[in-house]
Amino acid sequence: MAKITINGKEFDVDAGKNLVDAAEENGIEIPHYCYHPGLSIAGQCRMCVVEQEGNPKLQIACNMRCSEGLKVRTDTEKVQEAVKWNLEFHLINHPIDCPICDQAGECGLQDYYMKYGKYQSEMREEKVLKEKAVDLGEKIVLDKERCILCGRCVRFTQEISKTAALGIYNRGDRSVIGTVNDEPMTDNYQVNTVDICPVGALTSKDFRFEQRVWFLDEVESICGGCSKGCNIFVHHKSGKHIYRLKPRYNSQVNEHWMCDIGRDTYKNSNYDRRLTQARLGGIEMPTAEAIQIWAADLKTLVAMEQTDEIGIWLSPELTNEELESVFKLFAKEWGISKFFSENVSAIVAQDEAIDGLLYRKDHYPNSAGFLQATKTYKIKLDSTDSLVDQLDKTKIRHLIIFGPEADRAKTDNSRIANALTHQTFSVLVTAQLSVAESFPQALGIPSLSHLEKSGSLTNHAGLTQEMKGGLKMFREALSTQDILAKLEEEYRKPLDSDRKLEARL
Ligand code: SF4
Ligand code: SF4
Ligand code: FES
Repeated sequence: MAKITINGKEFDVDAGKNLVDAAEENGIEIPHYCYHPGLSIAGQCRMCVVEQEGNPKLQIACNMRCSEGLKVRTDTEKVQEAVKWNLEFHLINHPIDCPICDQAGECGLQDYYMKYGKYQSEMREEKVLKEKAVDLGEKIVLDKERCILCGRCVRFTQEISKTAALGIYNRGDRSVIGTVNDEPMTDNYQVNTVDICPVGALTSKDFRFEQRVWFLDEVESICGGCSKGCNIFVHHKSGKHIYRLKPRYNSQVNEHWMCDIGRDTYKNSNYDRRLTQARLGGIEMPTAEAIQIWAADLKTLVAMEQTDEIGIWLSPELTNEELESVFKLFAKEWGISKFFSENVSAIVAQDEAIDGLLYRKDHYPNSAGFLQATKTYKIKLDSTDSLVDQLDKTKIRHLIIFGPEADRAKTDNSRIANALTHQTFSVLVTAQLSVAESFPQALGIPSLSHLEKSGSLTNHAGLTQEMKGGLKMFREALSTQDILAKLEEEYRKPLDSDRKLEARL
C-alpha cells in the first residue's frame, strides 16, 4: 500500500497503481482519452494533466504510478485551464455531428466539454474535412472527422487482438486512422475498438442508428456463446428489445473484452427469433394449457407404470439452477432415469481456446456445470444415438427436449426430429422459433432466452458465475423453473378422465 494525497486529501492505495485509476476509485475524476486500463500508456491526449508537488511542470497522470508520499492536485486553476484549452485542441477539427452521432449520450467529448470545457472557441480556422462512413470491415464503420487520434483502437489491435489491423496514417492535421492497404478487418474482436473509442469515430454496424443510448437500460449477465463465460452487460429498451451486449470487466475471465460472435448472441432473444406462444400441430395456445396437455400425458404413462418410456434430452446450456430443477423433479421425484444429451464429456475434453484470446471451441456456456449436476444427481447420461435408437424401437413414447438456444445442436435436433413417430408424444421447451420449427410435431413450450435468465453457469475453468437476469420479454415465455413448477402442479391434480389412458392403450 502507499499513502498518496490528491487535492489535499490522503488516500491509501495499492503501491504501483496507475494514478488515473487510483483517483477514480476514490471518487476523483481525472479526464483522459488515450489512457485505457487494458492497454499500454501512450501519453498522447494530455487531458490527464495534474500538478505534482515538487515538480514545476504539469505532469500526465496516466503515466504516474502511486508511490508513498505522492502529492498531486487536479483542482488548481493551472490544471483546469490546461484541460479546458487542451479540449479545444481536440475539438479543432471535430464536426458538430452530435445530433446524428451514435456516440451521443456516451461521448467523451460531450461529457468533458460540459464538465471541463464550456469555453468560447477561439479558433478562426476552417475545419479540416475528412472521409466519413468508411467501411472498415464486417463489423465497424469509421468516421475520420470525428477521430481524435487517441490511438486506443490502434493499440488494441497491436496488443490485444494482435492483428495490427489499424494504424495512424499521414501527419499533422491530415492524420487518419486506417487499415493496412485499406484491407477490411476480419477478426472476431473488432467491436472492442468501438467500445474503447472515446468519441463517435468508430461505430458498430449492427448498433448504429438503431437506438439512442439514453433509452437503454442494462442488466448484468454472462455471455452464452461459448465456455469462456465472458461477463457482459445486456442493453435493452424497456425489457422489450435487446439492442447490444457490452463486455463487463472481470480480471479472471475476460478483462475488458468480448468477442464479436458472443456479441451477436443477443439476437436470439428478440422477437423475430423467439417462440413466443405455446403450440401444438401449428395451433397456438396459452402456455398454461400446453402444460396441462403435457401433464396429462405424463400422468397417463406414470399411472400405467411406464415411466421407462419417458426420455429427456437436455442441452448443456441450461443453467445450474435449471438442471437442478429438472433432475429434482424428473429423476428424484418421479423416478425417470432415461436422460440423453450430446457427448458433453467429449466436448469438454476437446475444448480449447480457438484464437488464443477468448473464444473457445465448446460453444456451450455450461458444459462443466452440466457434468457436475449429472454427478450430483447420479444421472446416467445416454447419447443422442441411443435416443434415436430407442425412438425407432418405440421404447420411448414420451420425449421431453430442453432445447438449445441457437442452432448449436442442429444435427442432434434433426436426427431426433426424424426419429419421432406418431407413437411418441414429444414436448419441446425452448426459447427459439427455429428450434421449435425443427420439431413441428412437438408440443412447443416457450421458455426464457439465455439473456433473460437469472442463475449461474460454470465456465471451462470451473468458475461459477451469476447471471442477474430479471428480463421477461414475452408474457407467455416462462423460466424453466416456473414451467416445471406448473407441470408439477398440474401433475398433482387427479387425472380427470380415462380418455388419455384409453388413447395410450
Ligand atoms: S478511432 Fe477512436 S479509438 Fe481510434 S484513434 Fe480515433 S478516437 Fe481513438
Ligand atoms: S469468448 Fe465466448 S463467452 Fe466470451 S464473448 Fe465470445 S462467445 Fe461469449
Ligand atoms: S490520458 Fe494521459 S495523456 Fe491521454
